[in-house]
Amino acid sequence: MQTVLSGIRPTGNLHLGNYFGAVKNFIKMQEDNNCFFFIADYHSLTTHPKPDSLQENVKKVLSEYLACGLDPEKSTIYIQSDLPQVAELYLLLNMNAYVGELERTTTFKEKVRKQPENINAGLLTYAVLMAADILIHNAHKVPVGKDQEQHLEMTKKFARRFNQIYEVEYFNIPEAYNFGSELVKVPGLDGTGKMGKSEGNAINLIDEPELIRKKVMKAVTDAGPTSQNQPKPEPIANLFSLMKLVSSKETIEFFDEKYNSCQIRYGDMKKQLAEDIIIFTTPIRERILNIYNDNDYLKKVAQTGKEKAFASGGKTIKEVREIIGFKTF
Ligand code: ADP
Ligand code: TRP
Repeated sequence: MQTVLSGIRPTGNLHLGNYFGAVKNFIKMQEDNNCFFFIADYHSLTTHPKPDSLQENVKKVLSEYLACGLDPEKSTIYIQSDLPQVAELYLLLNMNAYVGELERTTTFKEKVRKQPENINAGLLTYAVLMAADILIHNAHKVPVGKDQEQHLEMTKKFARRFNQIYEVEYFNIPEAYNFGSELVKVPGLDGTGKMGKSEGNAINLIDEPELIRKKVMKAVTDAGPTSQNQPKPEPIANLFSLMKLVSSKETIEFFDEKYNSCQIRYGDMKKQLAEDIIIFTTPIRERILNIYNDNDYLKKVAQTGKEKAFASGGKTIKEVREIIGFKTF
């Protein structure tokens, strides 16, 4: 069985793009892999969150992922800072990570541009901590989005380098988990581009029905088709793409037919889309709220995850220490 690992940043709320682009695949992955999902709270310290908001965000993200279907019985779900072995591996890997290569990381260069007032060493070594996350469980596969590909490449490099320096074949060289044809890009409601937190165009799983209706009704459309069967411009194609995720086949065919015969009323289509999104998100929203308010359950999940992560991470760090040459007297 393959070990698959994913790190989740504790920022903001999950939106439909996250769900259909990532979380839905995570849920499936759990069935036939040894999965580790952790909340990357050490990583989030690079932006200096306040203690209360750090805890709050971890709790929120954990509740949301559990509500979507990450299953603590099938997977190891834990909080990064509950596994201090990861900090030790990070320290050890840092000794073989060169400042030059870290400075060339795209995400680091971007931070230097965007937040010149806070270029801390944690940002510089972000990729080393991520490598430690992956290597601490000797993961085979890591599902990553485009923006994380370079970090995964660096993990491979650090793993190979460690093996070379110590003349061992200890670390697996992790590969990207490829969802292949299952990868979808969820569009935003503003006409072009994808749905995203920073794009400010997202429908969150936790959004109340009224808010969802408001957001969908504001979606960009056009003056309507003027000739039969004409191709759909991007904003309209996007509405149909969203429908494909949440609506029935009949509903999609109905509006497709209306579009092709130039009889479509976008207001009707949006109303239907909003209601179908609400039908989809309501049970998830209710589960999020229940889980969020159930501290005992969250505590139990975190504790179980911590124990399982400890067993795996503890073994790795013990072996790595031996390889490096640390010995007890
Ligand atoms: P955001 O900051 O918009 O929430 P992230 O960059 O943190 O998104 O992405 C988290 C995960 O969700 C990634 O695996 C990414 O590929 C996926 N994701 C985010 N937005 C979309 C989208 N619109 N369509 C498909 N997948 C998405
Ligand atoms: N850097 C990832 C992100 O920004 C989160 C992350 C931290 C991660 N450690 C990881 C992802 C290990 C995969 C594996 O989304």
